[in-house]
This record gives sequence, structure tokens and C-alpha cells, in this order.
Amino acid sequence: MAAHRRPVFAANWKMNHGPTQAKTFLSEFLVRYAARDDRTVILFPPSITLAAAREGVRARRDIALGVQNVHTADKGAFTGELSAALAADAGAAFVLVGHSERRHVFGETDAQAAQKCARVVEHGLTPVLCVGELLEQRERGETEAVVLQQLRMGISMLAPTAARRMLVAYEPVWAIGTGRTATPDDAATVHRVIRDALAEQVGVEALDIPLLYGGSVTAANAATLLEADEVDGLLVGGASLDAAGWATICST
Ligand code: PGA
Repeated sequence: MAAHRRPVFAANWKMNHGPTQAKTFLSEFLVRYAARDDRTVILFPPSITLAAAREGVRARRDIALGVQNVHTADKGAFTGELSAALAADAGAAFVLVGHSERRHVFGETDAQAAQKCARVVEHGLTPVLCVGELLEQRERGETEAVVLQQLRMGISMLAPTAARRMLVAYEPVWAIGTGRTATPDDAATVHRVIRDALAEQVGVEALDIPLLYGGSVTAANAATLLEADEVDGLLVGGASLDAAGWATICST
């Protein structure tokens, strides 16, 4: 990772930790992880837990919050959905867009990811665009093409000024929740491809865009992954659910 980019540690709780568990989690995590200004920590709780998480981190300006998904519309008759406007009002600063579970479990398209990034930016929030290939795509040698397509489409509705403020997370689908992590070299190779594509789209400021790696990150492999070229942070699912473990990862 480059010295001028502050590392980002992002916790994707997925459908875990309701308000009660979040309170318990935070009371332990905040004791174990003292505020530091050389890194960014972001929690993505379930949206129903956002208010409790916000209350829990009230005294800690160093911890940011986000939501795991938003709808493409701002408001309307979309039962069960959540808009970027609502997320902003509830205290979110970041939004995961195009997470692989959204793409592959819920059938989200690149076009929807593009619309979501646009809505997120319109409401003053920061998108974390997630990209990554399936195992069969990697085996067919399509990793680069898949990732570039998701990236270029995902940012296609953003002005360069907005794209420069976003984050990108590379999460190979075969590494998510499987215990199988990409090697630091695998991650660095794809991150370089992403960085070059971003530079083409937004210019030299692409050097400031944090590129996160995600997929079976643990306290044991976090440091090695962060040492890889172009890996500026980690997006962590399973290993972010335990307060002590997450505090260790954030202290890497
Ligand atoms: P994992 O999930 O760390 O449990 O593999 C990462 C993610 O899906 O963001």
C-alpha cells in the first residue's frame, strides 16, 4: 500500500447483529480499539441497527457508519427498500454498492450499480463500489475483463469529481465466506488493473482512491494483505463480527 493513502478498515456485518448485539459489540470494541487518526474505520451494520450503532459510536468521531445497499430511486412505493436519502438522514456516510451477494443472490446488474452510485453521491454519501469475479470466470481467465466491466459500468454515471471521492472494493466471489483468500499477489494484480482503469477515467487523482480487498480476511492474514502493492484497506465480513477480533484487525 502507498504511504499517502490512509488504510481503511470496513466491517460488513451483512444480516448479523441487531441493535442489542451491536450495543454489546461496540461496548467491547471501543474499549479495545482506541481512536487513531492514521486510518479510517467504517461499520456497515444492517440498516435496522444503524441508529443503535450511531448511538454507540456517538463519542467516537473516528468511526464512520454506512449501509449495505440502497435502492435506485430516492423514494416511493418500494416496500422493504431503503434510499440513499433515507440512509443519509439516518446518519450513514458510506454505502456499499454492488456487493457480490447483491449481484449474485439478488440478481443486481451493473446498470443498477451505476444508478445506485449516482444516487449515493447526489445525497452526499460515499459509494464503496464492490467488484469481483466468480470462480469459473477466474478459471476461464476472465478476471480482468469482469472486474473492468463492473468498474467502468459502476462509475459510468459519475462525474470525474465524484468518482475521485469514491472507494472501490475488490472481492473475488470465490474468496467470500469460503476461508479461501486471494494471495497478496492476486490482490495486487487486480488492484493495479483497477487503479489504471480509474486513472483513465478520472486522471491522476485516481492515485488517491482507496482500493480495498475483501474475501475471507482474518486477523491472521490482514497484515500480509495490506502489505501488497495497491491494497489500501480491507472489507471484512465474518471476521468483523467478533469485537475483539475486529479490534485486532483495525489495529493492523
Ligand atoms: P468475508 O466477507 O470476510 O466473510 O469473506 C467479505 C464480504 O463479503 O464483504
